[in-house]
Formats: sequence, C-alpha cells, structure tokens
Amino acid sequence: MTFPGHFPTTRLRRLRQKQWIRDLVAESSLTVHDLILPIFLRTPEMSPEIPSLPDVKRFTLEELPSLVETISHVGIPAVALFPVVSSSLKTDRGCEALNPDNLICQAIQGFKKYNPALGVITDVALDPYTTHGHDGLLNNQQIDNDATLDVLCQQALIQAQSGADAIAPSDMMDGRVGAIRTFLDQKGFCQTLILSYAAKYASSFYGPFRQAIDAAPLQGIIDKKTYQMNPANSREALREVSQDLQEGADMIIVKPGMPYLDVIHHVSHTFQIPTLAFQVSGEYAALIAAGQKGWINTDQAMTESLLAFKRAGACAILTYWALKMAKHLLCK
Ligand code: PBG
Repeated sequence: MTFPGHFPTTRLRRLRQKQWIRDLVAESSLTVHDLILPIFLRTPEMSPEIPSLPDVKRFTLEELPSLVETISHVGIPAVALFPVVSSSLKTDRGCEALNPDNLICQAIQGFKKYNPALGVITDVALDPYTTHGHDGLLNNQQIDNDATLDVLCQQALIQAQSGADAIAPSDMMDGRVGAIRTFLDQKGFCQTLILSYAAKYASSFYGPFRQAIDAAPLQGIIDKKTYQMNPANSREALREVSQDLQEGADMIIVKPGMPYLDVIHHVSHTFQIPTLAFQVSGEYAALIAAGQKGWINTDQAMTESLLAFKRAGACAILTYWALKMAKHLLCK
C-alpha cells in the first residue's frame, strides 16, 4: 500500500483539529447495539455483592422485572446469563446443569416473559455445577472429552427449551459445536443460534468471574490448560474457528478481549463472520481498580477499550460495563 502526500502539503493533524471533523473521519464507532451485558444469577440466600467486581451484582429471579426494564430502556440488545450455583447442588458430574427447573432455565423464562425481544445468550459448560470446578467431566484426572459432549448437548437442549436465543459453549471440548448443532436440530431447535467461544484462552483474567460464580477450586493435577488455548498461539485460533464454523457455529467469541486484539483482528478478517469480543472479569476489575486508585480515568479507559474491540474487527462486545456505557452513549 502506498500513501500519497508529503509534509507540509499533507498535515494529518488537520483532520484532528475539531470534534466534528474527528467524528466525520472516525473509522470505527461504538453504539449501544454493540453491547451485551453478562448477568450473574443467584438464589435469595446468597450475597448480591461480588468483591472482585465492583458495581456488578448478582441478581435473584425476583429482581428480573426491574433489571429487564433498565436494560431495555437503554437499548442493550442482549444479555449473557451465568448462574451462581449453591455448593449443596454441586456434584462430581454437574447434574444440576441438566435440571430443567434450575436457576438458569428459570431465569431464561423470566427474561423472555418480561421482554421477549431482548436476546438471551446462555453459557454451556459444567464449571458452575461441578465439585471439581472443571468445565467437563473428570475421569482419572483427565477431562473426558467425548463423555462431556453428551452432557453439553443435554444442557444446551434444556436451555433452548426454556427459550434461550443463543447457546454459547464455553467449555472448549473438541467437537462440541457439531454435537450440539446436530442434537438441537434433531429436537426441533434449528433456529437456536450457536455462539461459540471458539478462541478461549487459559487466562488469569478469569479470576474475578470464578469468584462471582463461586466456582469450586480446581481439583486434581490438571488445570484448564488441557482444554483452553495457550496464550502463545494465534494461528491455532484460526483452526479452532474454522472447525467450529464447519460444525455449524453462527458466531464466534474471542476471550479474553484486550490482550487478544490481534486474534479478534485475524479471526474477523480471515473468516468475515460475526466475531464478538469478551472483555472478561479481570480486564474490568483492573480498569476499575486503577480508577479507584486515581491512576486512570476508568470511564475514558473503558470507552477507549471498547472502541478498540470495534477497531480490531469485533461486531459486538460482552462487557460488565455495558449498562454504564449504554447510559453514557444515550446522553451524548
Ligand atoms: C466458564 C466461563 C468462564 C468465563 C465465562 N465462562 C471462566 C472459565 O473458563 O474459567 C469467564 C468470564 C469472565 O472472566 O468474565 N466456562
């Protein structure tokens, strides 16, 4: 690519001198339609506060009407639901994930009742439900990939039956998108979207989330590195995405977000498919904490980070800042 022009004829600062011209030549923009709000759901005996995620609350089913109203009022198009499962319901095999009356299924029905037009995305993975904290079934200190697929299909089905619009497998088992797509189609849910966490890295940025859902401490000699991706790799992300697309994924998530902007760029430009970024809990917590210390301006840093996802090629962003961002965009 060649760029015409030489100083002093070409002065790029001319394009930056006033807000109107900066707006006019902006290459990317952030709107409320880009935002997805992750929501934690709890039962009444649990605390609403999440110490590691300031200003993010866990909600009960009773609180859904007012929550839905707030979200709908600002125009956020979709929510992503995550349950906090009481430790008394956690088992080795995560059976509560398959209970059609579990917290998440009731929450899906609640959201659909209070605003059927609001998109509901649900997580498919076993970690909130297992006593060992893993996303899959643990067998002899290994995550049993193929046995896990059967459970994930059942979990996806009860979520679809409850009214979920999009199923988001975040477990990173091989072959899960194809298995879930086939199973949902057989059961008559061919319109349920699959939003695959195709490029999900084994990241320390998930720490506050694991506290938020009260995930059991990881047991055994293995950690999530045997199924989540190595942060060193980006070509491998393209293989993951390509495979999930062949298996029937409609959209792709890259996660975490900011440390993986290059991956968002590669994926969205290579495949030209809806690519979503997840600004995960640790990213949110870090920006809030630095703001609380007076070291950065959190509002501005959030706006800049979310815009960066758009510039990198994301079509939408999951962010705990979605409500604040939406309110800010409305006032502009
Ligand atoms: C679980 C899941 C995780 C997140 C979303 N789904 C955590 C993990 O894989 O350990 C992280 C989200 C966040 O940190 O905000 N399958």
